[in-house]
Amino acid sequence: MKSVSSAPGKVILFGEHFIVYGGKAVLCSINKRITVYSELTKDVKIEISSDLGSISIPVNKDIKSVYSVFRPIVFLAQKILRQFKSDSGVRITITSEIPAGIGLGSSSACCVAAASSILGLFSNPSKQEILDLAIDAERTIFKNTSGADSHVCTYGGIMEYSKNGIKKLDLKPSFKLVIANSKLTHTTAEVVAKVRRFKEKETDTFSVLCENESTLIEEALDSLKKDDVISLGQKMLVNQTHLQKIGVSNETLDSMLDLVKDASYGAKITGAGDGGCIIALVDNKNMDKALNILRSKYECFAANIDTVGVDNER
Ligand code: MEV
Repeated sequence: MKSVSSAPGKVILFGEHFIVYGGKAVLCSINKRITVYSELTKDVKIEISSDLGSISIPVNKDIKSVYSVFRPIVFLAQKILRQFKSDSGVRITITSEIPAGIGLGSSSACCVAAASSILGLFSNPSKQEILDLAIDAERTIFKNTSGADSHVCTYGGIMEYSKNGIKKLDLKPSFKLVIANSKLTHTTAEVVAKVRRFKEKETDTFSVLCENESTLIEEALDSLKKDDVISLGQKMLVNQTHLQKIGVSNETLDSMLDLVKDASYGAKITGAGDGGCIIALVDNKNMDKALNILRSKYECFAANIDTVGVDNER
């Protein structure tokens, strides 16, 4: 029997990094997915393959000695096989429409889809069970994750997220997003560590920025609820200035944002930054203009909001 699950990638509309220090973030999942296929095998091994490579290891290998991009997936396989007292191995194949390391939630989407797919070999898991396991798995490579990405990859849609909980926003906004890839890859954990150093050195500046960001997010939520794309775009531009101040933008990202400035309502980096992607807020009136302008120099695409979240195709 094969169990197949997919989960969407995500963008952060507002609040990346500040969320790690207790702020709020507004995220949405996008219509680009990671799909994970799992099947039990007689070999007592965990076999994983994707565009990033492959690994085959004994089921009981100590997770601390698994030095691989697949460590979170190995963790999931081991935990679930143990939970269901299975003496089988598992073969896991991952396919992705989301490049790794560019701020679109590939790592979280992969953990969520894999948790759902492997659990699906034994049970009919709830979204909450999938999410809890996915966050534990992600913590094997990124201890300080806020968990925001995994939440939106699991539940889908537009979401207000804080450490106190999540609120799925029941909105049908008219905006669309144009996403452009700087092709500079980053490691989220490293960029988060860089921001932590900034916070420790510039404590007062950082705390003012946290306050400004949280006021901005309340205003942005208001614009979102009113479907006011112009004011939402302006808020994005302000958010970008906060991200620049904490040092997660760079010359390439700034010049991408400059390029799309007049062809969109607003634009900012999304996710960890220091590479990765920018998002530009558009609607049907200016989407092609933004795409054409960015396409002259960068890989880019238009994204819609996914409303499904994790999906098991059993
Ligand atoms: C990464 O997509 C978002 C960050 O805020 C880290 C996190 O929330 O765990 C940079």
